[in-house]
This record gives sequence, structure tokens and C-alpha cells, in this order.
Amino acid sequence: MDILAIESSCDETAAAVVRDGREIISSVVATQIEEHRLYGGVVPEIASRRHCESICGVVSEALEKAGKTAKDVDAIAVSFAPGLVGALLVGVNFAKGLAFSLGKPLIPVHHIRGHIAANYLAHKELEPPYMCLVVSGSHSHIVNVKSHTEFETLGRTIDDAAGEAFDKAARAMGFPYPGGVFIDNAAKLGDCTKYKLPKPHTHNPYDFSFSGLKTAVLNLIHNTEQRGESIDISSLAACFQKTVCETLTEKFISAALERNCKTIALAGGVAANSGLRNLLDETAEKHGMTLFAPPLSLCGDNAAMIGCQGYYEYLAGNIADARLNAYASMPLDEVRF
Ligand code: KG4
Ligand code: ZN
Repeated sequence: MDILAIESSCDETAAAVVRDGREIISSVVATQIEEHRLYGGVVPEIASRRHCESICGVVSEALEKAGKTAKDVDAIAVSFAPGLVGALLVGVNFAKGLAFSLGKPLIPVHHIRGHIAANYLAHKELEPPYMCLVVSGSHSHIVNVKSHTEFETLGRTIDDAAGEAFDKAARAMGFPYPGGVFIDNAAKLGDCTKYKLPKPHTHNPYDFSFSGLKTAVLNLIHNTEQRGESIDISSLAACFQKTVCETLTEKFISAALERNCKTIALAGGVAANSGLRNLLDETAEKHGMTLFAPPLSLCGDNAAMIGCQGYYEYLAGNIADARLNAYASMPLDEVRF
């Protein structure tokens, strides 16, 4: 079954053709990052406009690369929640138009379920159940993946998401948006013991809280500048990254241990972080767990992951009609459309 998938939840317009949920036939991602960088973050109105301009070309390119026309695909999958509503609506309405004019099924896909599914594209042997740490620009979740379409969220962020914390700390350190990758690169050159940063505590042991850590970074920079001293940015990046990665890893591994889970996975944009990948790898090995992580090309937003999850949603009978809407937020274990 060949699915044409569309993704437009934030600042990437993407389309892909995916076969039987596991094989990428084509994948095209048009990013708007350079334009949003001027404003230090994603400007929703600009994002919607750019999606409108790009979507026809991106979908055509994905079909062309797959050697297909829209008539040849078996279904249309689209990210419909969570994300920027104006941005999501571009993809949702485009997918609706295509699906109904061609008489093909329309499959609504939860964006975070898509991030988790990116692992199936890279690891053919991976099957649920397993535990997944989802860390993106707007989500930090510990998820018990019971089946391809049944999920249980064990913990989540109570304030800033991991990616958001990286981006805000990076901004304070003088890096461009989105700053996660700049912190990652700077951290490789720094001393991760130079600055003391607080490890956040939460009531539910599997929840996350990163806003206090972000404030500690801001205060440290401010106080050092007030004393007329200079900050060692690489070391601050290394200390910040170490604190975030240790927090994510400790909570995630203890959730997996508590559930006696030996298969674990990583997903979302922050899954590209080299410190997190290395620490999780070491820790998983120590506990005899098998860790799956997507290749860097599938960590950030893309449509191939939506095509993959779309296949499993289709098998589960999750097909939408013309009333499909877009939603800014929606829990991944209570999907409604
Ligand atoms: O999943 P994603 O592409 O978009 C959302 O659905 O939110 O995640 C984007 C986030 C940004 O916050 C970005 O800074 C972060 O992923 N990110 C990284 C790295 N690469 C991307 N954070 C830390 N280290 C990286 N190497
Ligand atoms: Zn995403």
C-alpha cells in the first residue's frame, strides 16, 4: 500500500510516499527556518503563508521522485494535531481536497505518533510493545507504546519542553534559532563540570520541568556579566546539555525499569542530540536494554514518519471524512477527529 503523506505542523512543509508503512519511496522537506530565524522563533502567520506557497511544489516533487501521480497512491495521510493551527490547516485542507477529488481514503495522523513511528522506517525489526522518550520542540513525553495505535503517557513536561529549553538557553548564549544543534556542537568543545546547574525535581517522578534550569542559565550569564567576567560559552553549553540529558535519561530509564521493559526508543527533534544519544546508549547497555533511535534525517519534522504512522492508523480503521479539522493540542493517547 502506497501512502502519500503531508506534514505542515510547524515550520517545515513536507511530503513523502511511503510503502506499507516501512519503506520510504520519496521524501521532500522544505524548511522555513532561515526566515523565522530573523525573529528568534517561529512566527505562526509567516509559517501558514509559506506552507500555502510551498505545498503544491513539495507534494508534486515527492510524487515525481516516487515516479507516481496522485492517482497511483492508495491513500492520503496528513498531520492534523498538535501544532500551529494555521500551519496544520494548510496540510489538512490540501489533503482533504486531494483525497476527495481522487476518491482515496484520508488518514489523520497525530504528529507525535508520527515522531515515534520514524523508528519503524529505520528499524524493520522494531515492533511494540516498547517504551519511547519523545523529545521535540514542544513535547517531552515518556510513552508506553502498547501497539502501533495504543499509547499510554507516563510522564510529560510540566513547563518547557526539552527542545524549547535548548532553544531558550541557546538564545541566552547568543546562538541563532533553533539553538539545539548549536549547543550540541559547542558542548563538544566545553568542560561539562565547570558550572553548577540545578537538576529539576517534579512531583510525578516521570514528569519533566526545564524552566528552572533555563532561568539558572540566564542568571548565571547575567551575574557573570555584572561581575565584569566573561562566560565560557562552550562549557556552559556542555553543562546545560549534560543536565538535560541526565534528567531525561534517568527518568526514562527508571520508567522502563519499573515496567520491566527491555526495548526502548528515542524520537523527536532533540533525539538528534549527540549527548543524549550517547548517554542513553551507554545506560541502555548497562541495563541490558535495546535502544532504537531514528537516523538524524528522521529526527526532525518530515512526512515519511506521517506516512509510516498513517499506514498503521489505516489498518486500525482510523479514516477521516470531510469534517476533519486541525487542533493545536491533543493528547497522543486520546486521539479524536
Ligand atoms: O521535532 P522537531 O523537529 O519539531 C517539533 O515537533 O517541535 O523538534 C525541533 C527541536 C528544536 O527545539 C531544536 O532545537 C531541537 O529539536 N534540536 C536539537 C538538536 N537538533 C534539533 N536539540 C538538541 N540537540 C540537537 N542536535
Ligand atoms: Zn515535530
